[in-house]
Amino acid sequence: MDILKLLRKDHDEIRELFAKLENMDNDNVADVEDTFSELRSALINHAKAEEFSLYARIEEVGETRKYALEGLQEHDVTEYLLSKLYGMPIDDWENWNASVKVLKEVVEHHLHQEEKVVFKAVKKEFSLVEREEMAIKFQDQKHSQLVSAPKLTKYKVYEEFKSQI
Ligand SMILES: [Fe+2]
Ligand SMILES: [Fe+2]
Repeated sequence: MDILKLLRKDHDEIRELFAKLENMDNDNVADVEDTFSELRSALINHAKAEEFSLYARIEEVGETRKYALEGLQEHDVTEYLLSKLYGMPIDDWENWNASVKVLKEVVEHHLHQEEKVVFKAVKKEFSLVEREEMAIKFQDQKHSQLVSAPKLTKYKVYEEFKSQI
């Protein structure tokens, strides 16, 4: 399997989660929280495994090195925005939505850049055999890390607190 196919598949899943999150309202905050947790795990798992398999390899080659360095910076920005959202109460709906929108814009730009520019360069510089080796690394890394977002956020803590009164 070509790593580029695996990465695109993940990208589509991430896009679907954003679309799901965007169509939600604040009637059911727990659902929003669950979808956000899923999105957060998907983003972190994808980025870390991508860094380990694709970026680690392409930064060794002059033609593609800059893409790995730029991509790492964008992953850092994404992680910063995710941590900011993680600490934000969802019932502050206006600010929550504004932050989700900015996160989506940053991630969309990043995915688009990878698909339209980076993957093309990778296809040019690396053979299918090399891309298959990267795919094995990507899958192994993804399975070993399994970063799952902590389920308990401020909202759930508050709900549990209320149910005990
Ligand atoms: Fe990616
Ligand atoms: Fe990426």
